[in-house]
Amino acid sequence: MVKILDTTLRDGEQAANVNLNPAEKLQIARQLAAMGIDVIEAGFPSASPGDFGCVKAVADEVRGPTIAALARAREEDIRVAAESLAGAASRRIHVFIAASPIHLRHKLKMSREEVLDAVRKSIPLAKSLCPEVQFSAEDASRSDPDFLISLYRAAMTGGATILNITDTVGYAMPEEFADLFRRLIAGIGAGPEITFSAHCHNDLGMATANSLAAIRGGAGQIEATLNGLGERGGNAALEEIVMALRTRRDIYQSDTGVDASRLTAASRLAAKLIGIAIPPNKPVVGANAFSHESGIHQHGMLAERSTYEIIRAEEVGADAAVIVLGKHSGRHAFGERLEKLGYSLPSWQLDKAFAGFKRLCDEKKEISDGDLEALAAEVVSAAPERIYTLGAYEINCGNRVPGGPTAWVALKTNDGREICDAAVGNGPVDAAYIAMQRIIRLDLTLEKFSIGATSHSSDAAGEAQVTVRHASGISVSGRGISTDTVKACIIAYLSAVNNLYMAAAAKNIKLSPEGKGNR
Ligand code: KIV
Ligand code: ZN
Repeated sequence: MVKILDTTLRDGEQAANVNLNPAEKLQIARQLAAMGIDVIEAGFPSASPGDFGCVKAVADEVRGPTIAALARAREEDIRVAAESLAGAASRRIHVFIAASPIHLRHKLKMSREEVLDAVRKSIPLAKSLCPEVQFSAEDASRSDPDFLISLYRAAMTGGATILNITDTVGYAMPEEFADLFRRLIAGIGAGPEITFSAHCHNDLGMATANSLAAIRGGAGQIEATLNGLGERGGNAALEEIVMALRTRRDIYQSDTGVDASRLTAASRLAAKLIGIAIPPNKPVVGANAFSHESGIHQHGMLAERSTYEIIRAEEVGADAAVIVLGKHSGRHAFGERLEKLGYSLPSWQLDKAFAGFKRLCDEKKEISDGDLEALAAEVVSAAPERIYTLGAYEINCGNRVPGGPTAWVALKTNDGREICDAAVGNGPVDAAYIAMQRIIRLDLTLEKFSIGATSHSSDAAGEAQVTVRHASGISVSGRGISTDTVKACIIAYLSAVNNLYMAAAAKNIKLSPEGKGNR
């Protein structure tokens, strides 16, 4: 059995503009646990108090997988990682330090001896604080194999039982990577208690191929992310590794413990909460993964599915019957459908999502899976406490409105006031955002803004997602859903602002409403 370490919540979150709050991370972690992932790398706790909180939330709640936290080979990082993991039933500290000449010279400014010394000191410390320790030599594929052998030996002697060999910049080629595994495994001389692991990036599109080559070279653990999310070209895609091993068991003679029928739901959940859409041609989980367009292919498929199909849609849960819910559907059916879609909401969040569902039923007749996913995501991403809620709003736009689109917005505050303002903008959303900014008066920059539709029909709900950055450097996201697209955009903005207040409070930062606002 090949073990899977999912690092969506750590390396996946390092992708540009990705910022998950603890509730969103928990939601993804619950789904990873439900699908039988062996290890969830929940974050890098010493990176920020927010990261610490996310790892702690996952460690405290999620049961089944081992929960891992990343740490540099430094005492303070390791102690913080141990603290964040204290509530986990099964935990692992993952210590890393760079090994390549480029990293030593330009990043660490350390000699080989100093790096070795850091490993000799940090691994026993990690082992004294946590039953399981993993060690990674960063940029291993561009490092001297003899130096790697001394590093991994030192880590093993110090108590690490998982030795992770990295292709940090996606530089390796499959044959070469398999050879590196063989050489290191032989050179380190480890016993059966040691697991070798592969961590591949996708800069040259080789991450899956390199991970599979590593298995041929002796790897017993693969690190991957949902949808291959991650920095630059991303990490190895979990769904590709799982299905490649399953489909070509004849070659790899191995499998994973992952319940593949949950792959589609997990992939959609991660895409939704992270805000990076799945490309339609993405292997295994893309919208086109099981559609056959050309006549020749369709003919072959009708005669015998295996002519053009090596994976069946049902194997990865992509065949889920479309169930349409409506205003007569009850909370139970609603909750069950959400579970199928990968959302395990605690009761208070389910109540909120159900209230949103009932409101949406007043706006449209049939509620699709896309609507349900958007409703659940809206609740998961919303701050538990709201400083502002939407009162009333009025938008004036069209090609007969003199002076351009105008918006009037009234916001209710949590201390019982109602404040309104109006503005002109270059479009209805712009006008509404300027009007809200005049009320909120925080120094905000809109970093990301997208509007989509939850289904293909003209009565589809609009789903808006925004990321704003406050002058203090805090970046937060919010989402909104409504059949009125401008309202969805207003709710998304307010949700981000409410999340900002929560994030600032967690960091002891006082937000000053006097700041010069921008949008
Ligand atoms: O890419 C990398 O080398 C990493 C390590 C920290 C494991 O992410
Ligand atoms: Zn990485």
